[in-house]
Amino acid sequence: MSNWLVRGGAVLSGTVSVQGSKNAALPILAATLLIEEPVRLLNCPMILDVENMLRILESLGVTVLRESDALIVDSSTASRFVLPTALSGELRSSIFLLGSVLSRFHAADAPYPGGCEIGNRPIDLHLEGLRRLNADIEEHGGHIRCKGDRLVGAVVDLGYPSVGATENIMLAAAKAEGQTTIRNAACEPEIVDLQRFLCACGFRVAGAGTPTVVIDGVKKGHGTSFRIMPDRIVTGTYLIGAAITGGDVTVADTQPETVDTLLYQLAACGCTVTQHADAVRLRASRRLTGVGLIETRPYPGFPTDLQPQLFSLLSLAGGTSVLVENVFENRFKHAQELRKMGAKNRILDRTAVITGVERLHGAVVTAHDLRGGAALALAGLAANGETQILHAERIERGYERMESVIEALGGSITRKEDRIGEEEKTQ
Ligand code: UD1
Repeated sequence: MSNWLVRGGAVLSGTVSVQGSKNAALPILAATLLIEEPVRLLNCPMILDVENMLRILESLGVTVLRESDALIVDSSTASRFVLPTALSGELRSSIFLLGSVLSRFHAADAPYPGGCEIGNRPIDLHLEGLRRLNADIEEHGGHIRCKGDRLVGAVVDLGYPSVGATENIMLAAAKAEGQTTIRNAACEPEIVDLQRFLCACGFRVAGAGTPTVVIDGVKKGHGTSFRIMPDRIVTGTYLIGAAITGGDVTVADTQPETVDTLLYQLAACGCTVTQHADAVRLRASRRLTGVGLIETRPYPGFPTDLQPQLFSLLSLAGGTSVLVENVFENRFKHAQELRKMGAKNRILDRTAVITGVERLHGAVVTAHDLRGGAALALAGLAANGETQILHAERIERGYERMESVIEALGGSITRKEDRIGEEEKTQ
């Protein structure tokens, strides 16, 4: 277990360069299995989720090398199709590997991912899609066994624009016979990045970023060098950090258009937002105001992955704000933790009613999930006194050296390993 000590009271200011996108890197790493040649990835974030994905790939026989700022992934040595139970349990996105393992080995065996901190997270759409491509899937004893001697293109209608299901089907279809059309596909920018990667490797994919993605199966892909897109959720998190501390922060090396809905809301709260081609500057010089109603939605709607961080901001903004979480059914665990810091909020099913307070105070709080934990770190920076965040390793799943980034901006987060927690974990 890792604990963080966050000192409140700093005004964040300066420029940070944003890390590569976690949610783009994970499916791209899964996609390397489709290519039996080395792939060179730039801007791959060094975070726990990526480490776990690399360990899973290595357990399948993939060779991973780090070369200064690049990651070289060579799946020509891959030889196994059974995903390791313990590692896959740590990383829900291991489910993305089903499509590419199946395509590579005509078989895949994975533990059922089960629920997680933010909701049930079923995988019915992933499995239904793979079945449409002619895979045989059996689920028993907590395991999923897929066979697909001959994957064949098909029309797949997603009942909901699931990001993971869209990506998994793209991966399974890349080398399938004939054409696959995904209807009601998710439109997230990370899906566009996956398409860019697949096309760079010689696969034929079009339409990503729209609700219809068309994949024409190609027998073989080839190696490439590819730069992963910047992380829009991390971009948003540091911009909210500037807003909540009354600071002046520029997030560089990002894609401002991917955080449009957030920038709109931050401006509505009273922040001054300046967009450049690949950077955003946010200044907040006075107390912010609440926003009325915001609902999370699939892209291009307001992202569920920024809801907790916005929740912290609204906890200090004037007036009452309402946040509706439409994407995940259980994503308000940070609300109870923020109350320990003096925030005022009520949760009714998928709706949070937040009444802004003048000040938050430091407290001992728990990071229940990745983005909820990041929200607590932001609240801690703005609070009076010190905040201790337990289980901060959940934040490290997605943020590369957040302590150093915050320090560079004038704030203070200190990380300490909890040995007692570690011992408990290994028992
Ligand atoms: C991805 C992101 C995650 C983000 C989410 C929504 C990655 C690694 N993770 O997760 O950060 O919060 O998109 O933007 O990219 N659903 C089903 N059946 C399925 C699949 C999904 O009912 O087979 C439901 C889920 O329970 C959830 C909703 O669809 O309520 C959205 O899930 P989905 O878009 O699949 O999210 P992920 O791909 O898991």
